[in-house]
Amino acid sequence: MAQGILSGKKGIIFGALDENSIAWQVAMQAHAEGAQIVLTNAPVAMRMGAINNLATAINAPVIPADVANNDDMHNLIAKSMEHFGGGVDFILHSVGMSLNVRKGKTYTDLDYDFMHKTMDISAMSLHRLLQTCMKLDAIKEWGSVVALTYIAAQRTFPDYNEMAEAKSFLESIARSFGYHYGVAKKVRINTISQSPTKTTAGGGIKGFGAFYNYANEISPLGNASSQDCAKYCISLFSDYTRMVTMQNLFHDGGFSNTGVSHSVMQKFED
Ligand SMILES: NC(=O)c1ccc[n+]([C@@H]2O[C@H](COP(=O)([O-])OP(=O)(O)OC[C@H]3O[C@@H](n4cnc5c(N)ncnc54)[C@H](O)[C@@H]3O)[C@@H](O)[C@H]2O)c1
Repeated sequence: MAQGILSGKKGIIFGALDENSIAWQVAMQAHAEGAQIVLTNAPVAMRMGAINNLATAINAPVIPADVANNDDMHNLIAKSMEHFGGGVDFILHSVGMSLNVRKGKTYTDLDYDFMHKTMDISAMSLHRLLQTCMKLDAIKEWGSVVALTYIAAQRTFPDYNEMAEAKSFLESIARSFGYHYGVAKKVRINTISQSPTKTTAGGGIKGFGAFYNYANEISPLGNASSQDCAKYCISLFSDYTRMVTMQNLFHDGGFSNTGVSHSVMQKFED
């Protein structure tokens, strides 16, 4: 039930591709909580058209931007400020893409041009976003930036491939920029480490179904849904979490602190 905890706040949401996207759920809930939103996605994602349905539903403009392109990023932030008549209160970075995963390259046979692209889109884009915002003074004091990540940044999940490196890189940028933006403007920057979730990006990982079911059986609360993830994002955008910054926050039903569960042990009984 919406409480209006983002009433009067303005934000930019990256990465809503279709209804399954985590960003889609965040946009719907942020709107329900009273926020005004600008939506953005890669020009190629725009052609799929679904984002326009979301834009209509929440009365938000869509400004295309490839997160790997400096000019696109500058244009997006400048146009968003024009639209809002000033800075924003929150930003969701919900973007990830690996060309090696997409092309079926395994971790021990990576194409390095693809890998550069993966790091640029999935990790450096957070730096590009924050640096652009800082230069344009686009985030208000006590503003909040959240990026989505996965526990493969800390522990090995063999089929997560080079995205493990991308997520480690992303989490490090959140910490480092969190320091600089905190000192400069009291802007807070965190990553949310989310359970496996059935989305386009998630489903692209080899063996995703087994991966999803395993995590669900290990986690005392089960896998966290994209709707629950959206609620957590909203709390981080709100004024109730003003002193939380530079953190990687697990939103995974307890997966990260569980060694094994009884239901998994039963499968290995001799
Ligand atoms: N699905 C999962 O299991 C899971 C788990 C943990 C973290 N995450 C992370 O959540 C975030 C959102 O992914 P999702 O699962 O909602 O999948 P999704 O496929 O719905 O979202 C990924 C988004 O990234 C966008 N994107 C890709 N390249 C881009 C570019 N060059 N410029 C701008 N946008 C670009 C896509 O268009 C898409 O909207 C990602 O960072 C992902 O790694 C996902």
